Amino acid sequence: PQNPLAYERQLREAVHQHHAIILAHNYQPAWIKRVADITGDSLYLSQQARDTDATTIVFCGVRFMAETAKLLSPHKRVVLPADDAECSLADSITAADLLAWRAQHPEAIVVAYVNTSAAVKALSDVCCTSSNAPEVVSSIPAEREILFLPDQFLGAHVQRVTGHPNMHIWMGECHVHADISPDRLRAKMNEYPSASLMVHPECGCTTSTLYELADSAQDRVRFLSTNQMIAEARKTTQDHVLVATEVGILSDLRAANPRVHFEAVNPRAECPYMNRITPERLLESLTSTRDEISLDETVVGQARRAVERMVDPSL
Ligand code: 13P
Ligand code: SF4
Repeated sequence: PQNPLAYERQLREAVHQHHAIILAHNYQPAWIKRVADITGDSLYLSQQARDTDATTIVFCGVRFMAETAKLLSPHKRVVLPADDAECSLADSITAADLLAWRAQHPEAIVVAYVNTSAAVKALSDVCCTSSNAPEVVSSIPAEREILFLPDQFLGAHVQRVTGHPNMHIWMGECHVHADISPDRLRAKMNEYPSASLMVHPECGCTTSTLYELADSAQDRVRFLSTNQMIAEARKTTQDHVLVATEVGILSDLRAANPRVHFEAVNPRAECPYMNRITPERLLESLTSTRDEISLDETVVGQARRAVERMVDPSL
């Protein structure tokens, strides 16, 4: 972005004037995380969107995140300062796909990862994020069929850790995380043989390589959401940590523990959709109506419960 600092004061004034709050996902560029009020992973930001007193939520992330904020706070103004901040994982299943899949398994409980459109959430029973997917699946009795969507790597991981015997998994993927592949991981592990590993469960290397590792190496692997990675970074005693996720988070990990060498498993794993916001658009999103999220009322009515259960599993 062109000189984002020049916008900082103007932006803070506009945020104050509009009684707004800026939420930014951990994959956002550093300049956005610096001007944000709150940064975090999908679950944490959803909780913040539900609980904030602000009247406008500026969501610096991608569309499904802003839509989730709108579902949790339907009476607030939610803006996404980019027209084309989509998500290849969310795009890997449509509402029509899910309707057809449900027709084949009419008794199944539908568990949708938060990386889905509001229309897909409207056809789902409960949503989850990378922070709580195993807990959500574990809460479903073993005899019940589950349709888990849309991420195949997260799905396989959750199936493995929960041992749920009745899961069907949609074969979707995020193109950025899928390219954090078994081969790339093997190469980095050869380069840093004693490093520990933080792996986002959407990664292409989640299922195969990691589960083939020797038991001694398994102790060094953690499957984590992005907030959990930052928490782990603060307390790690390792000198080298391999990081398998989108590279926007590396600045946060390094800031959390400057002593440690954090190495990206794929240094080119950059999400194009997370990098669409410009300083001009961020400012404009507060002052114009162009970027407002508006959802069909029926969709809101049907999708709301699934996301409410995601942020509060006691519901
Ligand atoms: P979390 O930040 O919730 O771990 O998820 C990452 C993600 O997939 C965002 O696109
Ligand atoms: Fe979607 Fe992947 Fe980008 Fe996350 S990193 S927003 S899952 S395309």
